Amino acid sequence: MASPEFGTVTGREPCAAASSLSSCSSRSSSAQQLSTSFYSNSCPGVQGCDASLLLDDTSSFQGEKTATPNNASVRGFEVIDTVKIAVEKVCPGVVSCADILAIAARDSVVILGGPNWNVKVGRRDSTTASFNSANNNIPPLTSSLANLTSLFAAQGLSQKDMVALSGAHTIGLARCTNFRAHIYNDSDIDGAFASSRQSGCPRTSGSGDDNLAPLDLQTPTLFETTTTRT
Ligand code: HEM
Repeated sequence: MASPEFGTVTGREPCAAASSLSSCSSRSSSAQQLSTSFYSNSCPGVQGCDASLLLDDTSSFQGEKTATPNNASVRGFEVIDTVKIAVEKVCPGVVSCADILAIAARDSVVILGGPNWNVKVGRRDSTTASFNSANNNIPPLTSSLANLTSLFAAQGLSQKDMVALSGAHTIGLARCTNFRAHIYNDSDIDGAFASSRQSGCPRTSGSGDDNLAPLDLQTPTLFETTTTRT
C-alpha cells in the first residue's frame, strides 16, 4: 500500500487532483534518478517540469488549465491519465505524472519520426499551480519577436533555443480561432492554402472556433528535423 507521502490514486483522473498526486521517493533507486537539486539546475526560479498544468480547478483552487494561452487549447489529459492508471497498477505511488509527461513527449516525437533522447526521471509533481504565472509567462500567439525573445530569456533560453524549440510545430494542431484572421485578412498568404483552411474555419467569430487544422500542411504527423535548419 502506498504511504500517505505518496498519496493514492483514485477516480478516473489520477493526474488531475492535487490530493492524489504521487511522486518518486528517495527510496526508489535508479541509475537515472535525478538529483535533489534538479529544479535549481533545470528550471531555476520557475514553476516547471512539475505537471502543475494537469491540476483541475476546485472551489478553493485555480489551476493553469483556464489561463488564456491554455484555455480550450491544451488537450490530451486523458492520455496521461490512462498511462498513470496503468503505471499505478504495477508500481503504485512511485512514478510521477511529471515523469510520465516527459516520457510521453519524448515517445511521441520518436513515434512520429523525430529524434530520440534519454529522459531522466525523478520529477516531483506539483501540488500547486499558478494561473497568473501561466498567463504572464507563456507567450501569447500575438507576441512580437522582442516579446518572445524576452519571455524565453526570462526562462534562461536564448533566441537560438527559441527557434529550435519552435520547430516542435512540425506536428500538432491549431484552432480556427487562432488562425482565422490570417486566412481571411492577410494579403501575403498563399491563396490556395488560405481557401483550403477557410473550408474548415468559418469566417464568423464564434462559429467553428475550436475546429482544428494541422500546423504543418504537408507532413502533419511527421516530426521532421530538417525543415527548421537554415
Ligand atoms: C515561441 C512561442 C510559442 C508560441 C507563440 C506558440 C503558439 C502556439 C499556438 C497558438 C498553438 C495552437 C494552439 C491552439 O490553437 O489551440 C501551438 C500549438 C503547439 N505548440 Fe506552440 N507556441 C510556442 C512555442 C512552442 C514550443 C517551445 C513548443 C514545444 C517545444 C511548442 C509546441 C507546440 C505543439 C506540439 C503544438 C500542437 C499542440 C496540439 O496539437 O495539441 N510550441 N503553439
